Amino acid sequence: MDSQALKILVIEFNPKNLLKIKEVFSKYSFASHEISWLQREENILNKVEDERFDAILLSYDLPGSKANGLEILSDLQYKDLQGPVIMMADKGDEGFATQAMREGAYDYVIREKGYEDGLPLVIHNALNSFRAAKEKERLQREIAAKKVELESANRKLKELDRIKSDFVANVAHEFRTPLTIIKGNVDLVIKGGLGEVTPDQREMLDGAVKVANRLARLVNDLLDISKIESGKMKLKLEQLNINNIIEESLSAFSKMIKDKKQTLKKELAKDMPNINADIDMITQVFVNLLSNAIKYSPEGGTVAIKSVDLEKEIMVEVSDTGEGIAPENTDKIFDKFTRVTAEKKEGTGLGLPIAKDIVVLHKGRMWVKSELKKGSQFYFTLPKT
Ligand SMILES: Nc1ncnc2c1ncn2[C@@H]1O[C@H](COP(=O)(O)OP(=O)(O)O)[C@@H](O)[C@H]1O
Ligand SMILES: [Mg+2]
Repeated sequence: MDSQALKILVIEFNPKNLLKIKEVFSKYSFASHEISWLQREENILNKVEDERFDAILLSYDLPGSKANGLEILSDLQYKDLQGPVIMMADKGDEGFATQAMREGAYDYVIREKGYEDGLPLVIHNALNSFRAAKEKERLQREIAAKKVELESANRKLKELDRIKSDFVANVAHEFRTPLTIIKGNVDLVIKGGLGEVTPDQREMLDGAVKVANRLARLVNDLLDISKIESGKMKLKLEQLNINNIIEESLSAFSKMIKDKKQTLKKELAKDMPNINADIDMITQVFVNLLSNAIKYSPEGGTVAIKSVDLEKEIMVEVSDTGEGIAPENTDKIFDKFTRVTAEKKEGTGLGLPIAKDIVVLHKGRMWVKSELKKGSQFYFTLPKT
């Protein structure tokens, strides 16, 4: 207990009982106590507010009072007490005990022979539980306040994020028309629409087309991600077979694979069932994974494609023997604009986030397993129904 004297209020009709209590506390050597006494309930509600008591010993029977101990206890519940209330009653009045505890008493004692000796310990324990409960309440209030604070900060961040996404979408959109015009004009010149083009001029123009295409890819990726994030991307669902998508995409990339002298392995599930999904989007998912596998694998590496018919989903695996991804980065690569590979190839850092968003939009899942210097395996699933 504190070294300061504990202030104890005793509400007790019988002065003899009070004397015994006082005696016990005066002999108690571990802490000093300052005992106040009320013989009746008069004024108690004001008293407990004006004086800070560390504990209140409240007798159940209070002859001459307007209320008994239990009724007083009920009233005390609404006061901001500094310490616990402990009830006292004569033998035979035990029945009140459960009710007293329910009404907020921290403990009760029955006046049996020598019960006074136990009072210091009872008070000490009750005070400890009272303080623990108060502290818990305080912490809960603090947590609740913090929660409100966080929720409000979160709302603000979401709003800022929305403004930023809108801005990006607008800018990307504004880029599209000029880009189309640039590409169209350059194309016209290359094709000789304005007269013969010398090899030197053609080389310059080819370079311009290449960067214009790169810019167009970035603009399209930005538009896609902002559409998905703002919930404006609508799925055009139709019956499709993932094996067909894989075959068609592979044929579009066969030259690239050949140029890098990579080996392509293909293991497609027989009798792959159709699924209901957006053909363009699923193609984009596969193409994003495939182009990464080719891009982030060295010349002579292997790119392997697998499709699997699972119970409730279909699964596609795209693996490579490339540089791999460090464990601390395997989550990050699905974040926008995050590019982690040491040797950075051309790219926007949007391919994987878009792919994952599309898969999630279809209620599927996407994940990666990878080992540095060994290669990566990207997986995605799509539900059958
Ligand atoms: N197959 C892969 N092998 C190794 N690293 C990869 C692979 N696929 C993706 N990554 C890493 O994840 C990053 C994000 O990929 P992505 O979102 O497709 O963007 P980008 O390809 O435009 O960089 C890449 O920059 C690369 O660091
Ligand atoms: Mg990519």
